Amino acid sequence: MAIGRLTALLGLVTVTSAKWIVPGARWLDTDGNIFNAHAGGLCLEHETGRFYWFGEHKTQEQPEGGGIAVYSSDDLATWDYHGLALEPVEGHAHISPEDVIQRPKVLYSEETGKYHMWWHADDSRYSLLLQGLATSDNIAGPYEFQSAMSPLGNWSQDFGAFTDYKTGHSYAMYSNGDRREGRDVYVSRFNDNLTAVEEVAFRFNKYDFEAPTIIQTDKSYFALMSHKTGYRPNNVVAMRADKLEGPWSQPFFVSPAYTRTFSTQSGFSWRIKGTKTTTYLYMGDMWDLNSIWESRNVWLPMEINEREGSIKVLWHDVYDLNVKTGEWKPIRGKTYTSRYAKFTGGAHLQEATFASHNAIATGIYGNDSKVEITVDGEGADQWVSFYHQNIDDMGFGDQPMGQPDRINGTWQIRRISSVIVNGDEDNVHTLYQKDTHKGILLSSPLLLPLKKGKNTITIGGLYNGFDYKGADFDRVVVYPPENGRKRWLDSLRFWE
Ligand SMILES: *[C@@H]1O[C@H](CO)[C@@H](O)[C@H](O)[C@H]1NC(C)=O
Ligand SMILES: *[C@@H]1O[C@H](CO)[C@@H](O)[C@H](O)[C@H]1NC(C)=O
Ligand SMILES: *[C@@H]1O[C@H](CO)[C@@H](O)[C@H](O)[C@H]1NC(C)=O
Ligand SMILES: *[C@@H]1O[C@H](CO)[C@@H](O)[C@H](O)[C@H]1NC(C)=O
Repeated sequence: MAIGRLTALLGLVTVTSAKWIVPGARWLDTDGNIFNAHAGGLCLEHETGRFYWFGEHKTQEQPEGGGIAVYSSDDLATWDYHGLALEPVEGHAHISPEDVIQRPKVLYSEETGKYHMWWHADDSRYSLLLQGLATSDNIAGPYEFQSAMSPLGNWSQDFGAFTDYKTGHSYAMYSNGDRREGRDVYVSRFNDNLTAVEEVAFRFNKYDFEAPTIIQTDKSYFALMSHKTGYRPNNVVAMRADKLEGPWSQPFFVSPAYTRTFSTQSGFSWRIKGTKTTTYLYMGDMWDLNSIWESRNVWLPMEINEREGSIKVLWHDVYDLNVKTGEWKPIRGKTYTSRYAKFTGGAHLQEATFASHNAIATGIYGNDSKVEITVDGEGADQWVSFYHQNIDDMGFGDQPMGQPDRINGTWQIRRISSVIVNGDEDNVHTLYQKDTHKGILLSSPLLLPLKKGKNTITIGGLYNGFDYKGADFDRVVVYPPENGRKRWLDSLRFWE
């Protein structure tokens, strides 16, 4: 009887196993290489419904013009790499390695039976402002360049695309550039065969936003866009409408003010209509201005309130998404605050009304001024989120040309901390800590090898190109091992 019940329980646990999503982490593909596809978009394979993600491929040697990478997945968490879907061509007028090939979006055209890839096509000075089109019979490519065009004769910069699930029509979204005559954002309908845009559905006059995306619910359209602050993040806004043609609401922030949308920029979103519920995903970029090729992807669930007409991007360090049922849930971790840390050198606790226990660890610097905390581990690789404050940078993000927001800072948008587990100095983990505003605590995750029982985690400062300061440290949250349920299961089987 007991065994029977146990077996039933085991069956239940096994079928629900899914992979976790860790926003802002260094994601790896199934070959163990970095997931390298930025400012991208999803497309479903026509026959199979499998997810394909297309994004800008960035390397240290080729931060721009590296072509378009493509990955596929069944769960939005495990990714197979398929190489470059669109390769730069030496000497080509529009897709040479010197050209800008940005913000790719792929749509399937029923009429041509092909996949159509669109992007912002430009020269390195952004003087052309065109939309590129390449097509392929296979979703993973290779895509063949067709043309670079001006939509309805106008300019086109940051490119987004969206398909209305009620009408089946697809739309291009783009700003007409940064010049004074431009600074509008267009939502324009594609023709039926997806070979050109043919009609403007709406123009956000002089909104001067970029990185547009639209998410649709049964009642509403929400257009999300960022301000124009280059690779520095700002507070992403949304506008709501019943119809794409408008009228649209006033813009409003989608995340808590001053978090700069958790240090990300908008660019894509996706509706997962599961068997149990519908989930709306924000799919943004956490750019790293100092090393753009190390920028991270940040995908987060959104909360929509139709009565209020609001949409919110919700932060979670680690969450479990089931694309079949549409359900997701945050993973719970255990918190350890700087209040209980040990300090060396100039590192110390300073009163901070916004921090845990009213105090934050500051003065973290190089190898000599460090913070050490003790955490419980389960003998596995575990996600650990480090909550920090970094006020080096200025308020540029949400107050364009606004007041500097730094105290003896370096005007840099990141600090870098070193993280050493159990004194293993041969394996220093690198923790990038984006700038925040004063009193704003944000987190960065690392996958750390923890032994069973007590572990020490030592945080110091690494060189960020200017200084060895680590960000002010508030707390860590230690998450259970991802395969924890499976382990638990195996141990039960052993006793069975
Ligand atoms: C694009 O639209 C703006 C605003 O209507 C206009 O001033 C500008 O001349 C247009 N540019 C082109 C290339 O047509
Ligand atoms: C797409 O449709 C337009 C008319 O809307 C037509 O001129 C064009 O030839 C078509 N292209 C393809 C590839 O079917
Ligand atoms: C910290 O220690 C490492 C390894 O011993 C060394 O390479 C690095 O230069 C040191 N950093 C500073 C700021 O002294
Ligand atoms: C400002 O920072 C520099 C470099 O980190 C340091 O040498 C200097 O003492 C700091 N000044 C103040 C007033 O904290």
